[in-house]
Amino acid sequence: MKGIILAGGTGTRLRPLTSIVNKHLLPVGKYPMIHYAMMQMVEAGIEQVLLIIGKQSAGLYADYIGSGQSWGLQVRFGIQEEAGGIAQALGLAEAFVHPGDKLMVLLGDNLFQDTLREAVQAFAISGQGAHVFLKQVEDPCRYGVAELAAGRITRIVEKPEQPPSGYAVTGAYLYDSTVFDIIRTLQPSERGELEITDVNNAYASQGLLAYSVVEGWWIDAGTHRSLLEAGIRLLGEES
Ligand code: DAU
Repeated sequence: MKGIILAGGTGTRLRPLTSIVNKHLLPVGKYPMIHYAMMQMVEAGIEQVLLIIGKQSAGLYADYIGSGQSWGLQVRFGIQEEAGGIAQALGLAEAFVHPGDKLMVLLGDNLFQDTLREAVQAFAISGQGAHVFLKQVEDPCRYGVAELAAGRITRIVEKPEQPPSGYAVTGAYLYDSTVFDIIRTLQPSERGELEITDVNNAYASQGLLAYSVVEGWWIDAGTHRSLLEAGIRLLGEES
């Protein structure tokens, strides 16, 4: 199982903080945000990680993470030149993945209270297609939202005005290596990005999208308010 952390993008919702430093290096509790994605990989039992970053603050990532040795990880870096979307960033990982490898993909601004280890290890052994992690939220319109029927995800709708359920699709995904074939078929969305939701819907349409529901708290720390909330929660747990 290989790990891919996506930390490109522009962080527009966190301006002006992100005018001087990349979003994933902003402090959350005692650590820069990216630290928590690294820890999630360690806890999930991943040993090799590709970290996709933008050009902004690239040297600071090297300063903080180095080779990954202090986490017990082998870390490689990849640069996303332009923010072409989450699926476009993931497509850059193709050379890092061998046919038959499985992947854990994590968005660098997603923070989870709990380890995702159990589902990751199960997918490593017998998973097929893709697996997403859902969380029931009060404001689903901010996220990709799962439509559920008879215990399956029938489709995911990205930032819907009328959400088909209260279950947000969090930014942790498990894929088999066919994900790169799917990414090659994608067209940019209305916002000009290759969407991870389109990748997941391709698996859903083949009946190959499994899910589990996250029990502990989950925060997408991509806004000033959620960044603050994440810091407060994590400081409470770390102190
Ligand atoms: O947080 C979960 C949500 O993340 C999901 O529910 C949505 O389905 C998914 O589309 C995504 O939505 P966001 O609008 O929150 O995505 P955002 O543009 O904020 O990007 C999230 C992370 O993905 C960001 O921290 C870095 C990475 N990223 C994003 C883009 C657009 C890249 O590495 N490259 C990119 O070009």
